[in-house]
Order: sequence, then C-alpha cells, then structure tokens
Amino acid sequence: MLQFIGTYSSAIVVVILILFSLSEILGGLLDNKKRRIDDYLLENIAALVLMVLIKPGIVVLVYWIGSIIYPAGTHLLSGINWIVVLLVFLMVDDLLQYWYHRLAHQNDFFWKLHRPHHTAEEMGLLVSYRNAALYYILMPNIWWLALVTFCGGGIGVAIGLILKQVIIVSSHSPTKWDQPLYRFKILSPVAFVIEHILITPAFHYAHHGKSQADGISDPNGNFGNMFSVWDQLFGTAKFTRQYPAELGLPNDPKDNWSSHFLYPLIRSDQEGSEISKAHTRKKNTGTEPASLELEAGKYLFCQCGYSKNQPFCDGSHHGTHFKPLLFEVKQKQKLKLCTCKLSAKAPYCDNSHLKIQKLQG
Ligand code: FES
Repeated sequence: MLQFIGTYSSAIVVVILILFSLSEILGGLLDNKKRRIDDYLLENIAALVLMVLIKPGIVVLVYWIGSIIYPAGTHLLSGINWIVVLLVFLMVDDLLQYWYHRLAHQNDFFWKLHRPHHTAEEMGLLVSYRNAALYYILMPNIWWLALVTFCGGGIGVAIGLILKQVIIVSSHSPTKWDQPLYRFKILSPVAFVIEHILITPAFHYAHHGKSQADGISDPNGNFGNMFSVWDQLFGTAKFTRQYPAELGLPNDPKDNWSSHFLYPLIRSDQEGSEISKAHTRKKNTGTEPASLELEAGKYLFCQCGYSKNQPFCDGSHHGTHFKPLLFEVKQKQKLKLCTCKLSAKAPYCDNSHLKIQKLQG
C-alpha cells in the first residue's frame, strides 16, 4: 500500500483535484457569474506551469546540485521511520508557507506576486493556483520538498503532499465541508478541535474576504496553509465560523492574466493598477483632522496613510505591514477623524497633527 502511494502520489493528487471539481460541478457550486476569460486563463495556465514546469524543474535542479556537492545525501533519510519524515516534512513545510504567505501580504514586491490569488471573486479548486510564476519559483516550500525528496524522504513526502493537497484544495473550494459542523450545537466541540488544528474553508474564506468591515473577513490574517496553529501562535488567527459575502480586492482594476502571471516581466495597462508601470505608492496623510458627519454603521479607518479616500481605507495597505482599524458609529454624529496617522486615539483626532504644523512653521 505504502509503495503504491509512493509510486502514484502525483496521480492521487490529480484524482483529488478531479473529485473536487466533480463535486463543484455536480453541486452547481461554480456559478461562474464572476469569472472572466482572464480568470480561467490565469488559473489553468498557472496550475499547468506549476505542475509541469516549476515544481519538476526545481526538483531536477536540487537533484543535480545535490549529486554534485553531496552525493551521499540521497540516503540521508532512508533509515528513518516514514511517519517521522512525514511529520517533520509537513510541519517545516507549513511553517515556511505561513511566513512566506505573510511576507507576501506585508511586502510590496511579494504582494504583487501573490495579488492574483486575491483578485478571485469566487472560490473554486484552481483558485489556490492563482499566483505569479515568480511567486512559485521563490516559494521556499517547493525547494524544501525537493530537498527532502533528494535526501530519500520518499513515502513520507508522498503522503505529506497528498494530505496537504486535500486541505488546500478543500479550503478554496465552494464545497464547504465544515458548514454542517456549525449548524448543530452538539457538533460544536468537534468543530472547535478541527478548526484549531486544520485550515477549514470558513477560516480561509475569511482571508479572501473583500473587507474587514463585514466583521468576518480578515485579509491581513489567517495566513495558514494546512494547520491553523501558526496563526494562533503568531497572533493572526480569526475564527468566525462564517463565510464573507464578498470575496476579492476592493477597487480591483481587473488586470489581464498575463500581467498577473508574468509580473514583473509584463505590466498591466489598466489605469491605477498596482502592477502597472505608472504605479507608485504615495502617502496621502493630512495635517488637519477630517470633520465628518457619519451615519450609524461600521467603518474602516486607514492606518497606513496610502488610501486615496482618507480617512477611510481603500485597500491600498496591501503589501505593507499595516491593516485598517474597524470602528463603529452607534448613531449619526459629527466626528473629527485623524488624517496625520499620529493620533494615539485613532481613529479620532488627539491633536497630534499640531506637532506637524509646528514643525512646518
Ligand atoms: S488603505 Fe487600508 S489601512 Fe490604509
């Protein structure tokens, strides 16, 4: 059995993809109303290039380098129990993925490589493959996979890849397998245990939500890939057991598939796009508070200073370490909101802007 899995792990992964796509098609879950031709092209081309060129290419390269500098390395793991190899492979893989994914949300260059993943407005099994080619080439997990395979990880790696694929594809699928667990109170403890170990669709959908203002989404959190433990450990976990109504990016200029996939080689020609040549990140902070009359409701206050819709967030914080601040106005009232971003009482003005005025004379 183990030998069978080791030999046919790639075929098993393909079968998993086929089963999920069948469940989506037969369940009528892919309504495709929000998908453009560019979305289909991006998802299919990216998945194909990753599976046929990038992953095998990195494995071959690591084998070639390894056989030159340390040929005995091919037997390094052969005497170790495959369960130990599996556990170490998965835990290191997932920790690497957590930090790489987090970097991709907090660094401008890596955000642009990962951004195609977040322009999807509806989930589907190939959404997990929407990234720029360079994002995959630089992905530490793929190099880790190649290294452990070279060192004789064999069956441990093969089983790890299959388990990982099931969790990743299911967390991006419209087949929300975790939903029944939240419907019945008696299943709540089971849901609690599962969601605190594995990435559930609800947990990952929150990461794809368009705006934190819905109280469910947290595009600047829930970075985990297979296990939710890293998010809990590093303070980025948000459990709501709900699914955001709107997915994607605010103010998405709808870039074409080639500029998404081949950034930075090809740039978008869409005006205002983050991946166009003309784009620059510019602070839009002020030296006076914004005096506004706000209706009762929830608002997102911009903390990064890049929003063009000050003092509110317009999504420009992606690719920085900032995230917006959610605040609630209970009843219609006049408020002075901070635009200098120095207030210790954000979103409200605490007169910190006077320091800037003083400096400017
Ligand atoms: S634009 Fe969102 S925090 Fe500034």
